[in-house]
Order: sequence, then C-alpha cells, then structure tokens
Amino acid sequence: MKLSHRITHLTGGGSDGWDVFYRARRMIAEGQAVTELTIGEHDIRTHPSILAEMDRSARSGHTGYAMVPGTDLLRDTVAARIQLRTGVPTTRNNVLITPGGQAALFAAHMAACEPGDVGLYLDPFYATYPGTIRGAGAVARAVKTRAEDAFQPNARLIAEKADGAASLLINTPNNPTGVVYSRETLNEIANLCRQRDIWLISDEVYDTQVWDGEHISPRVLPGMVDHTLVIGSMSKSHAMTGSRCGWIVGPEEAIQHLINLATHTTYGVPGFIQDAASYALTAGSDLEEEVAAPFRRRRELAIQVLSKQNTVGLIPAQGAMYLMLDVRATGYSGEGFANALLDSHSIAVMPGESFGDAAAGHIRVAMTIDDERFEAALKTVCEFATYLANRSAAE
Ligand SMILES: Cc1ncc(COP(=O)(O)O)c(C=O)c1O
Repeated sequence: MKLSHRITHLTGGGSDGWDVFYRARRMIAEGQAVTELTIGEHDIRTHPSILAEMDRSARSGHTGYAMVPGTDLLRDTVAARIQLRTGVPTTRNNVLITPGGQAALFAAHMAACEPGDVGLYLDPFYATYPGTIRGAGAVARAVKTRAEDAFQPNARLIAEKADGAASLLINTPNNPTGVVYSRETLNEIANLCRQRDIWLISDEVYDTQVWDGEHISPRVLPGMVDHTLVIGSMSKSHAMTGSRCGWIVGPEEAIQHLINLATHTTYGVPGFIQDAASYALTAGSDLEEEVAAPFRRRRELAIQVLSKQNTVGLIPAQGAMYLMLDVRATGYSGEGFANALLDSHSIAVMPGESFGDAAAGHIRVAMTIDDERFEAALKTVCEFATYLANRSAAE
C-alpha cells in the first residue's frame, strides 16, 4: 500500500535534535533521577475550580455533540476578551473554537495557503510549525532570526524570502526564545504582509505570560484586521494542555470557511471543556496569574544566577515559560552541550538545534520544575559550562 507523500513527508526527516529528550525519557523509565527542563508542560495542574465547572457541565448533560464553531457562550467570551485586550471590535462571528492551538495552526494554514504556496515561518521555531505548514499542502520556508538581534525578526530578511508566500507565521511571546516582539518589529512585519498580500498567522498562545515589555497583537495594527488570523489557546494561560481547547480569531469570511473545515475534520470541541474554558476566562485574572507566577519567579531567579557568571549568555527572557541560553563560549554545539550535561549531571535541556539552525549553540531551558530545584539546576548548568569553556581554552 502506498502512503501519501503529504503524510510521509510531514516531518521533513533527518535528525531533529530531539534525541536528548528521548534519551532522558529512557533514563527515567530505567529508574534514573533526571532533572527535566525540556518540554512546555506546567508543573501545576488545571485549577480545581475549572475542573469543578467541567464536572458540573458534563453531569448536567453537556456531553453530546457541541456546536461545531464552538458554543455561543465560549465564542462570545473569547470575542469579548480579545476586544477588551486589543480594542479591536470582535464578535462571535470572528471566532472559531478549535481542539487546541495546534489544530488552529493547521486550520489557519489550510485557509491561507493554496497547495504549493509558500508558508513562511521564523527560525528558531516551535517544533510543529514546518510539519503543520506541509500538512496543509503548502511549502514550509524558514526565515532565520539572529542571536545578535536577540531573535527579533527582521522584515528585510523576511521580504527576501517572500516570493510565492501566502502566509507568514509568527509567535510572540516566543517559544523557544522567550522573546516578545517589539512594536517596531510588528509594524514592519505588518507593512510587509499588507504590501505583499500575505496572511499573518499570529500565534499568541503565550499572551498571558509577559515578564518584560508588552504583548502586542498585530491584529491591532492599521489595516491588519483583514490580514491576520490569531491563534489562541487555554493550554498555557490556564494550565489546560490536556483539555485541547483553543481558537482562531479572524475576518468573518475566513471564519465561515474555517467552520466548514471544522465540520469535515474535528467536528468541534467537547461542550463540557468549552464550559470550563468559558468559566476560566471569566473568573478574573487570579487564575491566570496563579499559572504565570511560577515562571515569573523562576525567570527572576535565572537572571540572578546568570548574572554571577559570564560563560552562559541569556537571550532577554521577556515572556513564555522558557529561557534561551547561549552556550557557544563552551565550544560545544547546543546538542553536544545538552548531551554532555545529561551524561554528567542528569539534567535534560533542549538543544537549540531542535528548534532550527538559527538557535545553534544555544539550549532551551523550560522553567517547569519547582523553584529550588530549578535554581540548583541552573547553577549546575553554569558551572558545567564554565568548566567546559576553561577546558577548551586550556587545550
Ligand atoms: C508556540 C506554540 N504554539 C502552539 C502550541 C500548541 O498548543 P496547544 O495545542 O496545546 O494549544 C504550543 C505548545 O507548546 C506552542 O508552544
């Protein structure tokens, strides 16, 4: 039996730098103690009050098919939230509820790209981006951002690669770099998208986790309402990763077609999950703050630890739950460093290379373990890097 090219070539093949992650998981399965600073999963679980609402809704019968576009309640809630946060008039007709941000990313590319069109994305990137673009039948083309620009995108570099592009996928606050795009960056990107008639797909799943600067949704920029598809999610803001609830916000016409796509693919999101999401989004900012607070604290701890040495560089950690650390002074690649760190200290981090070439020589540290262990692990990372740097200088 022949499988389609689309499915067999989804992930692009080759080493993707995830070997360290799988090796750490094997070590844990074999009973070894490993400090895992790899993936973006909170160390706290969904708040009991959200679970109580899920339970209430399910028991009261909301377990059948839910409305495919999303319940009126959740679509209205998301629309009101977006309008409040951005000032852009938004109604339920601008909102499609999806099974998480990931499904929204796929659907947005299905809406934006004809088969064979180019879908641009920025390197370093969240692991699923190129496969998502390819899965939608488009050609995934990376544009590098640069460590020396603190990984802020450069519109000129994007323009150089924009021939044939139907979409540009951006992510602020950014995974994996922790960078929040400046207004200037976003204005330049928006100008490019308008001039070249490119859809801007704006992944904003970390919009409640901003430590420095402000989160700007490019949908607010002049002329961008009709050029932007915003991706949102309950996963990161409310520690609801397993609930699979997210959304796309965009022009009404695009949402109408996206509802058709949902009818023929996901058929919606469970009603009791949507009720829990509506509750969580209207319960005030405390729930979000409770989820964000540990990362805010650990980022402060990290800045202190890193300020006491000068081997490991910290890319300005402005948002999201990760730190991008520059380990080039050790003479190691990100992958080499991550492997050596796992072997010698049983600490697992993600090599920068697993997020694209632009993050080579870096490692990504997820701030997802308790403060004490996190601080101790970071100190070890720095000491180990200093040891390696001194050793390579002596050779
Ligand atoms: C940048 C980014 N976008 C989207 C997602 C997908 O999130 P979800 O599908 O859980 O909403 C993630 C998850 O880690 C992410 O980091």
